[in-house]
Amino acid sequence: MLDTALNWRYAAKRMNGRRVPEITVERILDTAHLAPSSYGLQPYSVVVVDTPELRERCQPAMFHQPQIVEGSHLLVFATWESIGEAEVDQLMTLTAEERGVELASLDGYRQTVAGAVGRLSTSQARHQWAARQAYLAMGMVLTAAAMERVDATPMEGFDPAALDEVLELPARGLRSAVVVMLGYRDTETDWLAGLKKVRWPRERVIARAECVERSK
Ligand SMILES: Cc1cc2nc3c(=O)[nH]c(=O)nc-3n(C[C@H](O)[C@H](O)[C@H](O)COP(=O)(O)O)c2cc1C
Repeated sequence: MLDTALNWRYAAKRMNGRRVPEITVERILDTAHLAPSSYGLQPYSVVVVDTPELRERCQPAMFHQPQIVEGSHLLVFATWESIGEAEVDQLMTLTAEERGVELASLDGYRQTVAGAVGRLSTSQARHQWAARQAYLAMGMVLTAAAMERVDATPMEGFDPAALDEVLELPARGLRSAVVVMLGYRDTETDWLAGLKKVRWPRERVIARAECVERSK
């Protein structure tokens, strides 16, 4: 099942304009919601751009990649600008509520998480750290989309500052890291459709650690 889906998927270059049903998109997005993250902080939002008008306005920032207007849902994985004590406190409050425990019982954990995010001393360091969490969610979205037989093209080929401006992300305290375009492949126009998947030999990607006896 999973391996069939992953062999079926590829990063479609052309899409056929058919809209992915909302119920399917929501199921795919559930995986981003449930994705694991460092300390469980989930320091990102997935901004869904689903109107043709707004996608058209995003296209120049996406270096005019055709999928932006030929697909139906543009998912922008955007990191939080603010990652600090306030967000850590919010997470502790939520955890205490959800698990029915005293807030004070989470003090040790709060200190650990606050210490870790406190060491991210620049806005760029926070963005990079948060982007790593967002990429993990993106991986789950790509897998879920394949299981749903929806094409999903991951994209780094865009101008983040320009995209952020079109979507007014700074006003929401967000900064784009990576995007995924959802839609359906156009097998007539996509030069990549039907081409064999290219991957390194498995043993180059999946390696075993070797236990070397050391002489004392
Ligand atoms: C982080 C990332 C960024 C990518 N950026 C783009 C992009 O901007 N445009 C595009 O058409 N494909 C993009 N790709 C697709 C890759 O080229 C593709 O995943 C890779 O060649 C492997 O092929 P496959 O996914 O089709 O199996 C990106 C993939 C990843 C993971």
